[in-house]
Amino acid sequence: MKFSHEWIEKNPWLLIALVVLVVSVGGLVEIVPLFFQRSTTEPVAGLKPYSPLRLAGRDVYIREGCYNCHSQMIRPFRAETERYGHYSVAGEYVYDHPFQWGSKRTGPDLARVGGRYSDEWHRIHLNNPRDVVPESNMPGYPWLAATKLDPQSILPKMRALQRLSVPYTDAEIKVAPEELAGKTEEDALIAYLQGLGTQIKTRN
Ligand code: HEC
Repeated sequence: MKFSHEWIEKNPWLLIALVVLVVSVGGLVEIVPLFFQRSTTEPVAGLKPYSPLRLAGRDVYIREGCYNCHSQMIRPFRAETERYGHYSVAGEYVYDHPFQWGSKRTGPDLARVGGRYSDEWHRIHLNNPRDVVPESNMPGYPWLAATKLDPQSILPKMRALQRLSVPYTDAEIKVAPEELAGKTEEDALIAYLQGLGTQIKTRN
């Protein structure tokens, strides 16, 4: 039989194999170069790995599921950049394992929320959002202020990140628990939020 397009279309398994081949090649051509582009793999100027306190706060953020309502990625559209600031760039996320981009926005994007409010505002807001934003439907997280961090638990987390090529030194890891001593989960979460997106500042 002649090797024609019609013949391919009438052979479902051959058609499936060829479709998979074409999609894979297309995918590889788009994705593989990203691993080698400096703009996607190099940290932006001034980006530092999370301090132990911020790293602990990031884990509270993930545990409490804040990402279910908040994205951390500003898209390069005017409506977003006017509201949130400079659009997000890949180099801001090189130390995020895993990243918290998300796409669900019940609440505002948090990629550049760092420095927008005072620590005190965050304390009131996390305890009961309606005390500062009456129409808010965000849940309160009052237990965070009452829960102390476990300082030793930061050690395996930092070592794991070190393996993923986050540049923590052994000396930094060794003293990390000291930074968490006596701190609450709320302190850590607020430290995390206050640093978000502060490497690129476009707001006055
Ligand atoms: C059910 C959805 C929901 C969840 C879960 C949620 N939020 Fe929110 N969040 C909102 C909404 C809606 C707003 C806007 C109203 C307000 O400021 O309270 C908001 C606002 C915020 C703001 C102020 C942002 C700004 O630019 O004004 C911060 C900071 C914030 N949330 C942090 C958190 C953190 C941290 C968590 C997890 C501990 C969390 N949120 C969980 C819905 C949510």
